[in-house]
Amino acid sequence: MGKASRARWDGNVRSMAIIAKPRDQITAEDIAFLRENYTSTGGLLPNAYAGGAFYTPTHVARFVIEALCGLNGGTFASGSRFLEPSAGSGVFIEHLPDDAEIIALELDETSATVTSLLYPHANVIQGDAFRHDRRDYYDYVIGNPPYGVTIDIAAEDVPDEYATLSKKKGGRLGGKSEVAFIELAIKAAKPGGYIAFVLPLGLNYANYAEKVRRLLYETCWHVATIGLPGETFALTGTTIQTQILIVRKAPPGTPLIPTVEKRWGSNFKRGGYDDITDFDAKFLAGQAPSYFAQITDIGYDAKGAPTPSKWDDGLTQLDELVDDFTDTLVRENLYPHIPSWHSVKDVSAFMFQHANNNGDGYREASRTYAEGSYRWNELTLGAGAEIEWRGESVSTFDFEWQDRIVSDYYAELAQQVSVSSSEMEAVS
Ligand SMILES: C[S@@+](CC[C@H](N)C(=O)[O-])C[C@H]1O[C@@H](n2cnc3c(N)ncnc32)[C@H](O)[C@@H]1O
Repeated sequence: MGKASRARWDGNVRSMAIIAKPRDQITAEDIAFLRENYTSTGGLLPNAYAGGAFYTPTHVARFVIEALCGLNGGTFASGSRFLEPSAGSGVFIEHLPDDAEIIALELDETSATVTSLLYPHANVIQGDAFRHDRRDYYDYVIGNPPYGVTIDIAAEDVPDEYATLSKKKGGRLGGKSEVAFIELAIKAAKPGGYIAFVLPLGLNYANYAEKVRRLLYETCWHVATIGLPGETFALTGTTIQTQILIVRKAPPGTPLIPTVEKRWGSNFKRGGYDDITDFDAKFLAGQAPSYFAQITDIGYDAKGAPTPSKWDDGLTQLDELVDDFTDTLVRENLYPHIPSWHSVKDVSAFMFQHANNNGDGYREASRTYAEGSYRWNELTLGAGAEIEWRGESVSTFDFEWQDRIVSDYYAELAQQVSVSSSEMEAVS
């Protein structure tokens, strides 16, 4: 075991001793120690089962929360509801406002106890996330689910059907953790709510993730995909390629509608125009241009040593992206071009970046922002043209279209409730 792993090991051992104490004997110093040193076992023992416990660096978690805050106009409404379904030691919760309603699920007892000590304002529920039954409830589902872990749970403990879990012998359900956690997030978020997860890059192309890619495509608007470099998780001893995916759950019944333009070109006009008729491209009504970025410097190298940086105060390339989330004009003007699914013939892959980074957007953005981060957007329903929607003309660059679809949905729901309660009154 190397020096860094030894230090992590020792930190975990002392953390276990702290949480074994009676609660009233745990001091502020103990809490500070846990915050700094508890990292769980991910990557510490080669080949050992660690439940996918590779914790997210705090600046990555902070960026995710800041991006969501930006999408909400720069502030979270008081009492916003957050779900962290695989909380680990709660690094995402650290960056949430104190007046939020926070539910944190965590299977591992030690990690759940650490999270409840560090964030007493959160409701930490120790147990399997797939038992959680709140549906259409959360404004935000956030986190970094376990990757490549096999879910194994009694079917009777799971409150409803999962497309990504399959029936096994003995009345159990099994599946791959990251895809099942995405499905859980889609179920738990309310229509109009956001999901922001750190996910493995393999999700973009692996066969096992096909169902969940389609599920995302059919139920959520894509907001942003931000590729992270391999060294992001260096401190846990892994070089896995990851990405941040931000999507927004569309109200049920939001239809997939055809693109308004069928021949699109790069705005650099280098590649000429492509005819996309063959792809039968459709996107959910309300889908705005999609935001993509690739981080090339996360603030440290593969050994965890800080990279020379032009930023002060621990800022990184991620911080350069935060404003893009408040400013839709930026998101509409970052080298818009035809989505990168056009070469894979799978429209449902539009939320994801080519794993080999050979999409037009990536190439153009990497020439423009040579030092990184690279940012670009991909057009979806059209290149700014008007589109027909429920008897009105809407611009395909209208970022508020989604908000109107969401508020119409809740207005209709409220009307149905008031009609049925007046019917009840008439009967009684
Ligand atoms: C990749 S870690 C991430 C932790 C935290 N979200 C973060 O970003 O630092 C995944 C966490 O999921 C937990 N986990 C694994 N399977 C779970 C399940 N079925 N239900 C709830 N938590 C689970 C692991 O114990 C681990 O703490």
